[in-house]
Amino acid sequence: MEKSTKEWITQGESVLMPTYARFPLILKRGKGAEVTDYEGKTYLDFVSGIAVNSLGHCDPQLVADLKKQAESLLQVSNLYYTLPQIELATRLVEHSFADKVFFCNSGTEAVEAAIKLARKFAQQKKAEKGKRFEIIAAENSFHGRTLAALSATGQTKYQQGFAPLVPGFKHVPFNDMHAMEKAITPQTAAILLEPIQGEGGVRIPDAGYLEAVRALCDRHEMLLIFDEVQTGMGRSGQLFAYEASGIVPDIMTLAKGLGGGFPIGAMLAREEVAQAFQPGSHASTFGGNPLACSAGLAVIDRLTESPALLEHVRELGLYTMHALNQLKEKTPLIQGLRGRGLMIALDLGLPARDVIEAGHKKGILFNRTSDNTLRLIPPLTIEREEIDRMIEILSGILMERTHAKK
Ligand SMILES: Cc1ncc(COP(=O)(O)O)c(C=O)c1O
Repeated sequence: MEKSTKEWITQGESVLMPTYARFPLILKRGKGAEVTDYEGKTYLDFVSGIAVNSLGHCDPQLVADLKKQAESLLQVSNLYYTLPQIELATRLVEHSFADKVFFCNSGTEAVEAAIKLARKFAQQKKAEKGKRFEIIAAENSFHGRTLAALSATGQTKYQQGFAPLVPGFKHVPFNDMHAMEKAITPQTAAILLEPIQGEGGVRIPDAGYLEAVRALCDRHEMLLIFDEVQTGMGRSGQLFAYEASGIVPDIMTLAKGLGGGFPIGAMLAREEVAQAFQPGSHASTFGGNPLACSAGLAVIDRLTESPALLEHVRELGLYTMHALNQLKEKTPLIQGLRGRGLMIALDLGLPARDVIEAGHKKGILFNRTSDNTLRLIPPLTIEREEIDRMIEILSGILMERTHAKK
């Protein structure tokens, strides 16, 4: 590197839009659950590209499949078929409630596609009863940054300065059936929920909540959309988080872990709903491109060819929660602990940023979902010893601060 880290960062600040409050690290390469910066320092990665690097960094099979695909075909558009796209759609259909798949490139695009499909379906089906377009979503939810997904998001902090938002979205508290029922009008087309709120701080649904929402949708002939952009592809310990509830949605969105690090999004639906989209209804130039789909195939094959990886996620999730619970007994600085599979959040009695910065010094990457909530979203392939290392470091950071407070 002909310039120092500091000089590169200064250059970056001068040419990149100031949309991110980045940490002063320039990462160079990764292997498994570790990443290394340009100064040669290695970090244990409990962020994994924000719940993306499901198979860890540079998984050999994923890399080999990408290389092979890159040497034969990168992009042809959706004017034609490609085998990786057909194969990935087939796998997703085989392993989910869905019958049809639309591919795009990110989470927010998958949510946009879901919103458009829900509106189109509802307006066709219910034309005789007047147009239905409203979507009820949850407070504290996160669905993305493009305008409709942002309007669906139940956190005003992301919406400030972007008015007018897309009309037709209402928000009710998560886990509150009474508020959900009250919000329904003759215009309501769908309910949109994350089956576990991710960016909202890993909020788990109460027992029976998702089932009750499903029943409500059936009663009012509304669609149920699950945004599994973060929870999907094994993150929660099931291939899809909805599986834990015993009910299925009508539409589901995926992205993040689906490509294991390569950008891809998908919107899935059951047959009757999917038929509302016809040629010309919706499209994406890059959506489902062969390279992205070959990455998706490597990920879904690993997650489904044997139950081992999903079992590993469930086991290590419980193991981590147990260890964190023990740590919680020792320090009042852990005030809340929530998790399922390998998505875990800790509410802290200090700014999460302090812990993140202390973590960098000690060679670990953490992430936060709010000022005081730390989130752990490591690769699904993380090893038990790496969890132990994380606990040791986190314990060191928190105990030091616990003693300092006394
Ligand atoms: C549940 C959920 N939906 C949508 C998104 C948006 O995804 P992307 O950043 O790929 O657009 C996110 C991102 O965090 C998410 O967690």
